Amino acid sequence: MPSLNDGTTIPSIGFGTYPLRGDQGTAAVLSALDLGYRLIDTAVNYGNEDAVGRAVARTDVPRDQIVVTTKLPGRDHGYDETLASFDRSTAALGLDTVDLYLIHWPNPSVGKYVETFRAMVRLKEEGRVRSVGVSNFTPEFLDRVADATGVMPAVNQVELHPFFPQVELRAFHAEHGIVTEAWSPLGKGAPVKQTAPVVAAAAAHEVTPAQVILRWHQQIGSVPIPKSGDPGRQRENLDLDGFTLSDAEVEAITGLGRPDGRLFGGDPNTHEEM
Ligand SMILES: NC(=O)c1ccc[n+]([C@@H]2O[C@H](COP(=O)([O-])OP(=O)(O)OC[C@H]3O[C@@H](n4cnc5c(N)ncnc54)[C@H](OP(=O)(O)O)[C@@H]3O)[C@@H](O)[C@H]2O)c1
Repeated sequence: MPSLNDGTTIPSIGFGTYPLRGDQGTAAVLSALDLGYRLIDTAVNYGNEDAVGRAVARTDVPRDQIVVTTKLPGRDHGYDETLASFDRSTAALGLDTVDLYLIHWPNPSVGKYVETFRAMVRLKEEGRVRSVGVSNFTPEFLDRVADATGVMPAVNQVELHPFFPQVELRAFHAEHGIVTEAWSPLGKGAPVKQTAPVVAAAAAHEVTPAQVILRWHQQIGSVPIPKSGDPGRQRENLDLDGFTLSDAEVEAITGLGRPDGRLFGGDPNTHEEM
């Protein structure tokens, strides 16, 4: 279990929920919890906090064993706006507390991510949030919030898969005690799974290409949050303990990285998401 800089831990794999919504979303999260996922990733902008909250209410898994993550949207940046947005999120989730609260995107042209993070730190001090973090932040943005608030984000959730392994950012995270979470860990629908090093490792260990990629995440110290609406693939993605990739296999997969490896154009310096 990766340790966070605030003394808590999170599971080494989570469950992504975009774009699962409504009853289908609730059913998918219920099945994920049933199979053993304990880190659930939602966001205001996914329009599914309600669906996730219903699953958390209905599951037999005790609330204190589930790490519920949600993310504050760009349109709610600002100190007071963050406090109000948090109230709307907890109402939608039907929960009193959020375990991991992230700024979804820095939106640097708006220029309010520092005061946004300051409000999140207050929510943590009030016990309404367990851990505070960010998503899609660069080292420059991370340093700015830490300098201004005295609190380094516990987590930075970023695009990370074999085509974009984020080698430099991960080194910065390691140096500053930030846990890396990986969004689109499987590269979504991109042909990451069909690449030669992934296919070769899958054959060698008698596992699937998706399992190889998720194990690669864990071995490089990244917490992947794969999404699947299918219980069979949810189970497959969780079944990673029976094999270990060799250093050479890990290196070959990391070697698939390329400077233009982002799959969805999400450069944090320019991408704005409200
Ligand atoms: N912070 C951010 O800015 C940000 C941005 C994007 C995403 N996210 C989060 O990250 C989560 C995951 O990212 P993602 O959904 O973009 O991509 P992903 O998890 O890399 O890929 C999901 C896709 O892969 C398929 N899949 C899952 N397991 C599979 C398996 N074992 N074999 C073959 N196909 C498989 C899924 O289809 P099926 O459902 O049919 O199985 C789905 O089409 C999201 O759900 C969201 O929570 C965050």
